[in-house]
Amino acid sequence: MTQPYSIAVLPGDGIGPEVVGCALAVLDAAEERYGFRTERSEYAAGANHYLATGELFDAIEGRLRDKDAILFGSMGDPRVTPGILERGFILEMRQRFQQAANVRPVRLYPGVPTPIAGLTPERCEMVIVRENTEGAYVGQGSTVHAGTPNAVAMQESLNTRAGIERVVDFSFRLALGRRRRLTLCHKTNILVAAGRLWQEVVKDLGALYPEVEVDYVHVDAMCFHLPLTPERFDVVVTDNLFGDIITDLGAVIQGGLGVATSANLNLDGSAPSMFEAIHGSAPDIAGKGWANPSGAILSLALMLGHLGEGEAARAVEAATVQVLGELPALAGAEMGATTTGIGSRIADLVRGGAADPSLVPDSLLATLATLAPSRR
Ligand code: IPM
Ligand code: MG
Repeated sequence: MTQPYSIAVLPGDGIGPEVVGCALAVLDAAEERYGFRTERSEYAAGANHYLATGELFDAIEGRLRDKDAILFGSMGDPRVTPGILERGFILEMRQRFQQAANVRPVRLYPGVPTPIAGLTPERCEMVIVRENTEGAYVGQGSTVHAGTPNAVAMQESLNTRAGIERVVDFSFRLALGRRRRLTLCHKTNILVAAGRLWQEVVKDLGALYPEVEVDYVHVDAMCFHLPLTPERFDVVVTDNLFGDIITDLGAVIQGGLGVATSANLNLDGSAPSMFEAIHGSAPDIAGKGWANPSGAILSLALMLGHLGEGEAARAVEAATVQVLGELPALAGAEMGATTTGIGSRIADLVRGGAADPSLVPDSLLATLATLAPSRR
C-alpha cells in the first residue's frame, strides 16, 4: 500500500467545523472506494484559539509546512477585531506558503437555481484565477493624523513582474487544456502603472501560447458581462482584490456562496497548497445545521485532483453535483437538506461509486495534478 497523504485539517470558526466534518466523511468514503489513504492532523486555529492563546499563523506554520495539502474551513468571528484573523492567518498562509494562484471555478450546475433568468449550465463554465499573494493584499499602507479631521490614509498595491508572470503562465496552461481562451480582468484605464505591467506580461507570455485567444475586460464591465454573457469566459486571470470581488459575483451566479469553492495553489512545490470553500464563517447560522457543505466538499475534490487522485476527485465532484441538483426538491423535506443530510448523501454516492461522472464535464480536476502537482 502506498504512503498515506498527510493532510492538515483546519476547521476554524463558525460553520467551518460543520462543513469540514462533512468533507472528511466524504474523504472517508473516497478512501474506501478508491484505495488510497490519508493521515489527518487537525489543528485548532481561529477565533477561540486566538482569544485563548493569542496565536496566529506563525505559531503553526512549522507544523503545516511539510504536509501534502491543507483542508481549511472558515475563519472570522465578531469577538475579534476585523482584520486580525483574516490578515494574521489566512493572508499569512497564502503569502508565506506562496499559494500564488487562487483557482475559483464558476460553474452553474444542472438543477441549481441561479438568480440570472434564462441562464443554463452550458453557458456558465469558467475558472477565475486570482493572483493570491500581492496587490492590495500585501497590507502596505499608513495613516497620518489618525482620528482627526485631517486624517490621511494611504493603501498601496504591490505588483511584481515575477508575481504576475507565475499566475498568468499558470492561467495560459490552464486555458490550453480547456476552451483556449484567456481573459485578463483589470482596470488599466485608471490603475495605469499596475495595468500596464499586467498587460505587458499577458502580451509577452501570450506569444508562447499562440493557440490561446487573449481577451481583456475592465473590472467594472466584468460586473455586467459575468452575469449576462458568462459564455464569453473560459479562464479569467485577475489581480488579488479584483479577484476577491468578482468571484463573489461568480458565486451568486452559480447559485450562492454555499456552492462556490477554491484552491490556493503553491506552484513551485515549496509549501503545501490549501483548499477552502469561498464562504465565510457565517456565525449567525453556526451549529444550526443550515450550512450547505457543498463548497467545502468541492474543495476536497480540488484537493484530491491536486494530489493526483483524479478518479476519486471526479467522483466526489460528480456526487456533489448530483446532490445539488436534488436539493430544490428536498428543501422542504424533513432532514434531507441539513448540513449532515447533504454530506452523508454525497458520501453514500461516493462510497457506492454511484454518481455519474459525466456530470463533471471539464478536465479541471485532472489538469490540476499536472499544472500544480502536490509535492509527492
Ligand atoms: C476570500 C475571502 C478572504 C479574502 C478574506 C476572508 C480574508 O474574502 O477568500 O475571498 O479577502 O481573500
Ligand atoms: Mg472574498
